Parts: sequence; structure tokens; C-alpha cells
Amino acid sequence: MYSLLVTLYFSYLVALALYRLFFHPLHRYPGPVLAAVTHWFEVYHNIVKGGGLVIEIERLHKIYGPVVRVGPNKLHFNDRRAYDDMYTNGTILVKDSDFYHGISAHAPEGTVGLCDPQAARRRRAILGPLFSRQALIKLEYTIQKKVDQLVNLLEEHHNSTNSSANMSFALRSLTSDVITEYCFADSTDTLTDPDFSHPIVKSVRDLMGRIWIQRHFPFIIRIAVILPPRLVLWFIPAFKSYVDMKARYEGQIDSLVCSPDALFNTDHETIYHHLLEPKAPESRPSRTSLVQEAFTLVAAGSDTVGNVCTVSTYFALKDKSICRELHAELREAWPDKGRPISFVVLEKLPYLTAFIKETLRISIGVIHPLPRIVSQETQDIGGLKIPPGTTVEMSHFFMHMNPNVFPEPYVFDPDRWLVEETKEMMLDLVPFSKGPHTCLAWAELYLIFGNLFRKLDLDFASVEENE
Ligand code: HEM
Repeated sequence: MYSLLVTLYFSYLVALALYRLFFHPLHRYPGPVLAAVTHWFEVYHNIVKGGGLVIEIERLHKIYGPVVRVGPNKLHFNDRRAYDDMYTNGTILVKDSDFYHGISAHAPEGTVGLCDPQAARRRRAILGPLFSRQALIKLEYTIQKKVDQLVNLLEEHHNSTNSSANMSFALRSLTSDVITEYCFADSTDTLTDPDFSHPIVKSVRDLMGRIWIQRHFPFIIRIAVILPPRLVLWFIPAFKSYVDMKARYEGQIDSLVCSPDALFNTDHETIYHHLLEPKAPESRPSRTSLVQEAFTLVAAGSDTVGNVCTVSTYFALKDKSICRELHAELREAWPDKGRPISFVVLEKLPYLTAFIKETLRISIGVIHPLPRIVSQETQDIGGLKIPPGTTVEMSHFFMHMNPNVFPEPYVFDPDRWLVEETKEMMLDLVPFSKGPHTCLAWAELYLIFGNLFRKLDLDFASVEENE
């Protein structure tokens, strides 16, 4: 009996593989046989090759051309027209829940995980005002306060015997504190750790390292979310920061729900002013959804900005002429560095702006392709009629590294943005994809780089100092 079941199962797998290879609606699209037959192709490159899927896809495009079958039901494009068709605001392609409920397994009801277009639109409409330009100008001081704190800490480091600092952790501590202060008026205060090694920052870094496991085996996270915290910690001690932060958000949300007047006592406007009192009361999210939104915003808004800042600080220090150029422009525009400067002034500085654009280009941001599902109503994608139900995607990597638009794409060169006509390049600069996005990231980047390069004289630590 047992052997019969095994035989039947293997016959099923063989039949499925043959169907996918010879009869599936995508069977004529080129690509490796393994990718056409099984989803494990993607799992292998993401997990075993440590997030190496895009490197493999780049290799495949060189062999097979601009459209490659990268999964049994999935096509990856390397074609800017296709990118616009898939991601431009107003497109009717929906997010692929298999992917989004994987990466957001702990928060499927947060904005990133919401795959139903109407639910996502409603949530964006509620949160949008807090991330508008107007709100940013009002709340800019919350960002500036944290940036000042980092600058002071780095100065202290410089004056101490061990003057080096791990900038990756320092910048991630900053962005974690900024997003939590901005969204909840309740900063994680990770910058209080003098060595920039606060457990929250470390655990977010670790989480990012494990994101592929979460993406492909989301049930692990789903089980962890419903189990009692003590049991979770017993099995997986690394979840301590997750459990602590969940308790923190739940506590804050419960106290605001119990006594709504407390909303008037927060230091400034927060996400809860919008989520708990939306214009349409029926769109008020449930408690679970509120907690998940809090997690989503912290995840979406901390490591992303921290990573971009780390990459660009590296490039600026590698080529000292970039540092000098930034410093000179900032000194002229901001002679008295003892007085604060607004991001509205900083964003008018041409070299700083070019530096930030180049930073966003070369650091890519979210490198994994963002999958979308083709519907009956979908028009062509990149000039091709794709069968409904197909998953289509294109990593930003292929936009940002397109040598026809960005010559010598691997060279960090802010000057490429200092030409008269940048329209073409701007169309291909898509670090936030093409949909609506918060201005918070831009404001943070202007304030962080403006302050770091005006006030500090950074350099790489020598090898001996690191040892
Ligand atoms: C340089 C930093 C950032 C980068 C590169 C970045 C990148 C992206 C990208 C590529 C998406 C589209 C995801 C998709 O279509 O699936 C996205 C969505 C999102 N980001 Fe960011 N982001 C950054 C900073 C921030 C910040 C500071 C926030 C703060 C709140 C934030 C909040 C969000 C949210 C809520 C979404 C979901 C939007 C939606 O689907 O409606 N991001 N981000």
C-alpha cells in the first residue's frame, strides 16, 4: 500500500513536470528547464544562494533575452516598457499574495501585505496625510532631533580612544528611531546604545538576513504569531525583539482605544490619529490590523533608509572628491552650522540632490522582483499578450543598471545627474517603484546627508583600529 502511494505520488510529479514543460500556457517562453518545472528553483537561489536570485536572473536574461520563464507560472522581464506596464500607478495588476503574504507573514494586514487593491487603496488614503509634504514640514523637527543625536554621538566617538564606529549599525539605529518617533511619538531610542548595537537594530538586521526563509516558509512565522510569547521564545530566542515590540504596540494601541483622549496627549500627530479616527469610520482597522500596520511601517521605513545611507556613505568616503564637493556646497548654503537647516532648503542644492539620486540608483533599494498577477483586463505587457493568471515581475536592478540610460552603471557618479536633461534617467529611477510613496524617505536622506557631511569629517577606520 505504502509503495503504491509513493508510486502514485511520483507519477503525479512526473505528469506535472511534463504538463509544465509541454502544455502549460507559458511553455513557449524561454528559460531553464528547472525553473519551468518547479518553484524550488527560486527557493534554491534565494535561500541556498543567500538572496542570489537576481544575479541568476541577470545571467538568464543574457542567455534567453528580455523575457524569461523563471517559475512554472512566472515571467521575469528586462524591458523598461514592461516595467511601466506592470508597476505604473493605475495599473490593474494586483500584488501576488504568495510573495507578499510570505515577506509580510507577521503582518499580512499592513499596507505592504494588503493584496486586495481596494483595501490597500483605503489604507493608503488613511495614512497618506501623515506622510504628505505638509505633515513632513510640520514634523521635520522629530527627524532633526534624532539626526542631531547621531551627530553628537559620532563626535563623542571621534574624541574617544576607540574613534571608529560601525556606520551601518549607527545609521540603522538612527532610522529605526526616526520612524518610531515619527509614526508613534514613541521612539525605540536605539541611539542610547553607545556602541550602536541595540538589540532591536541587531534583530532587524538578522530578520532581513532570514527574510528568504520567511518568504518561502511563512507558516513558521504564522505559527509563531499565534503561539503564546513564552513558548515562542523557548523555541526561538531570536524572536525576543519581535515579541517585545509586539507587546509595546499592543499596549500603546489598547491604551489609546480605551481612552481616546490620550490621542491629544501625544507629543505630536501619529499614525493612530489617522487610523483610529478615519474620515470613514467603517474603515477603522481592527486591533490585529493596527498592530500589523505598526510593524509594517517600522520594517518598511527603517532598514530601507539605513541601507541606502550606509551604501552611499561608503561611496562618498571611497572617493574623497565627492565628500569635498558635498562639504563645499553645504558650507556655502549653510555657513552657520550651529543653526538648523530645513530639508526644503537642502533639497534645492544641486550636488546634494545628485548625490541622493545616485545613492538611490546604485543601492537599488528593494532588489527582489515585486510580482504582480495578470488579469483578464490586462493589456499587453512590454508588447506581449500574457495569459491571465500569470505572475509577472521585473527587479528594479534592471532599471537602475541599464547601461543605455545610465552609462557605466556600476560606477557611483553623482555628476551623471548634473546635466541639463535628466527626464529620461528620472523615468528609470524607481527605488520606490512607480506607485504612490511617502516623502519621508527623501526628507530623511536630505537631513541625514546634509548634517553628516556639513558637520563631520568622516573617514574609513584603519584596519588596526578595527582589530
Ligand atoms: C530609501 C528608502 C526606501 C526605499 C528604497 C523604499 C522602497 C519601497 C518600494 C520599492 C516599495 C514598493 C513595494 C511594492 O510594490 O511591493 C515600497 C512600498 C512602501 N514603503 Fe517604502 N521605501 C523606502 C522608505 C520608506 C519609508 C521611510 C517608509 C515610511 C513609512 C516607507 C513605507 C512604505 C510603505 C507603507 C509601502 C507600501 C506602499 C503600498 O503598497 O501602498 N518606505 N517602498
